[in-house]
Amino acid sequence: MRTEQLVRTFVEFYEERGHRRITGSTLLPPPGDPVLFTTSGMHPLTPYLKGRPHPLGRRLVNVQRCLRTTDLDEVGDTTHLTVFEMLGTWSLGDYEGPASLEWGYELLTEGLGVDPGLLHATVFGGDERTGPDTASLELWQGLGVPVEPTAEDNWWPNGSEGTVGPCGPDSEIFLWSGDGPPQSTPTRDNRWVEVWNHVTMTHHRLGDGSLVPLPQRNVDTGLGLERLASLLQGKPSVFSCDLFDPWRRLVPALWELDEPSLRLVCDHLRSAVVILGDGVRPANTGRGYVLRRLVRRVLTALRRDDPSRS
Ligand code: SER
Repeated sequence: MRTEQLVRTFVEFYEERGHRRITGSTLLPPPGDPVLFTTSGMHPLTPYLKGRPHPLGRRLVNVQRCLRTTDLDEVGDTTHLTVFEMLGTWSLGDYEGPASLEWGYELLTEGLGVDPGLLHATVFGGDERTGPDTASLELWQGLGVPVEPTAEDNWWPNGSEGTVGPCGPDSEIFLWSGDGPPQSTPTRDNRWVEVWNHVTMTHHRLGDGSLVPLPQRNVDTGLGLERLASLLQGKPSVFSCDLFDPWRRLVPALWELDEPSLRLVCDHLRSAVVILGDGVRPANTGRGYVLRRLVRRVLTALRRDDPSRS
């Protein structure tokens, strides 16, 4: 299934279930937002998750480009990208997490043809502040999907992705990427690839780490487009899905690179183009510095692999 068709299937599935499509925003968060770039689809929706009525209603769907510098050192493995697209859905004080998971399961298996035997889920197992997410656990058990409870891995966002803002327990859906039959669990075997995160946003986390209940319970889901596309296309990494075809044609024709460097160069050039397109220019600080850093890392990889330098 080509990525274009995957996006269409996703959006139409949710539109048929009462969701209105909203336009994705740029990578630049609104003024006053403390982060440099939009890191997930929920980011531009923060005021509505905190209770402001959205003009299009309580069920939304979209495609949002995101950028994560927290994953920069992992770029080059099979699943991480700096800029990626997130397919997102929201319930703004409408339906609850288990309803969202049930639709997610239906879309993956019936809409996109994923073998249900290749799925695994994780749920929030509870911690000293909040009880376990038994409703999601029971939903997965009822569907016959193996499920693993964890603590900090199933609270979004965890510390590395920002500390203030809406947050809550999540249930993550993993797809088996190994050659043989599925084994083990997502926390113990990284051949389980996380593709879709369903967060029940219940709280707002303040700067001191304390949690304040939100005026409404929301559901925020984010599906990594390139990850799911590569798995559906039977490709060994995100760099081999159809979205990277132009990069894989262009870059090796210009420079002779080993596979890790090729992946890094494709990722960083693609990310730099998107950042430039959103209006950022190279600088010594802030967003412009992220752009400079990406270009510098490309140049380092090109010089390292340049045979004329050895
Ligand atoms: N906000 C969650 C994430 O980024 C789900 O969209 O994973």
